[in-house]
Amino acid sequence: MKFTLNLAAKEFSSSNLVLISAFQKTIPAKGKAKEQQVLANTHWSKDVKAKFESIKTSSNFTGSLGDKFTFHLDNGTTVLAYGLGDKTKLDFEGLRNEAAKITTMLQATHKEVAIQFDGFVLKSKSEESLNALVEGMELASYKFDRHLSKKNESKLKDVILDSSIKKTSAKKLQSVLDSTLIVTESIGVARDFVNEAPNILRSTVYAKQVLADIKGVKGVKSKVLGKAELKKEKMGLFLSVNAGSAYEPQLVHLTYTPSKVTKNTKHIALVGKGLVFDTGGYSLKPGGSMMNMKFDMAGSSTVYAAFRAVAKLGLNVKVTCILGMTDNAVNEHATMPDSIVKGRNGMSVEILNTDAEGRLVLADCLDYACDQKPDAIIDSATLTGAVLVSLGNQVCGIMGNNKKLTDKILKSAKTTDEYMWELPIIKEFHEDMKSPIADLKNIGGSSFGGSSKAAAFLSNFVKNDIPWAHLDIAGIGDSQGHKAYCPAKGASGLIIRTLVDFLKNS
Ligand code: BES
Ligand code: ZN
Ligand code: ZN
Repeated sequence: MKFTLNLAAKEFSSSNLVLISAFQKTIPAKGKAKEQQVLANTHWSKDVKAKFESIKTSSNFTGSLGDKFTFHLDNGTTVLAYGLGDKTKLDFEGLRNEAAKITTMLQATHKEVAIQFDGFVLKSKSEESLNALVEGMELASYKFDRHLSKKNESKLKDVILDSSIKKTSAKKLQSVLDSTLIVTESIGVARDFVNEAPNILRSTVYAKQVLADIKGVKGVKSKVLGKAELKKEKMGLFLSVNAGSAYEPQLVHLTYTPSKVTKNTKHIALVGKGLVFDTGGYSLKPGGSMMNMKFDMAGSSTVYAAFRAVAKLGLNVKVTCILGMTDNAVNEHATMPDSIVKGRNGMSVEILNTDAEGRLVLADCLDYACDQKPDAIIDSATLTGAVLVSLGNQVCGIMGNNKKLTDKILKSAKTTDEYMWELPIIKEFHEDMKSPIADLKNIGGSSFGGSSKAAAFLSNFVKNDIPWAHLDIAGIGDSQGHKAYCPAKGASGLIIRTLVDFLKNS
């Protein structure tokens, strides 16, 4: 969609549809009269109000959340009043969701809409409101329809934001709009990668497409390590996951260096699990659990999208992005359970379950990331089914070795209205990941606390006490339809906004 800011607007832009907000207020009970919910439309212009009131049925419209009322002005303009409920109860996430619902509704019917933006400004915060409104609209307009021969194309192409806000704010608001669109576009890129079928998005294809996508972005350098290079790097754990694959493993190494680096410029490394398909390997997943394992690369798409957004925004933070790509498949070379394999950091691992493969790929990628000497490392992975058991399928798990870093990421999650909760890594979990015949084993003695034990395993591959946080997105990577701006089925693109906010504040 194309968004146009029209500031210092005296009247609605010419459009066949004008969208205005409506709120609802409560009149407390008095004497015999019961409490009453009535329309609060003081922000409407005189003529709009008059026209609305002249329509008999308008008294039924009280501006409750999601309530709609359409009427026509004398000049033929159609006005859609959309209820946002009690203004004091609406937060930015609420606005994001309502904007998404409005978009889904208009996509079927209208080519263009002029929105009276002032009525969508919450708490007098025009920048945050603009950000939430545009995020909701853009994220809801996402479709993965490239394989459909008959596409259900959206009609809605143009959005005009009419506002009485003075032109002196134009630069700031335009920059909020532009940066919001960079982030939502990046979320779209991540969703496309995650939704793509595994017979198409092989590791090699994925790597190539990432490089093509980032090509020409200022400050970005890239390289890809294939099988031969991973052997040279002694990435035995990563290679053990790839052993049963017909396709090369790919380690995509991206760096973004801002134009002005000072000694205060922070360097953050992002690491992502990029399992383009996870069959489980010899520890084969049952059919039902294997379905949808194309999304096992969502961790890598998440960090890539954040990286891409930061580079395109030109933020003042250095970012390294390491994506570990392969499938986990079975052939005569596939790693057998009970194998003992050495990682890049020299530690031996008894691989008791080939389905606990993400941690093996991440282990070598984390060790490699440490050599880039970042100030902090964040990895993101669809790592454990256990995170769905502990936190449900709507919350991202966070674990790590540094409270300051964890707290900072949690704060970003809160700022961007994304659900995230910390899980502990206790010394007993570290103990449980030790093997009597190797330095480590890749699964714990019991499945209890599975997410934290996976994180305990990973912590062994973080060198020199570098602050590190691990995000387990297995629960939230897809099918997050409880948020109106996420598809009910398919990639969610959640946590990218959290990471961008974190990097912005680094
Ligand atoms: N990719 C899965 C994790 C997963 C499971 C993501 C369900 C989304 C939904 C991961 O590689 C895996 O299979 N983990 C195992 C670990 C176990 C063998 C210790 C799991 O969670 O069952
Ligand atoms: Zn697995
Ligand atoms: Zn996996």
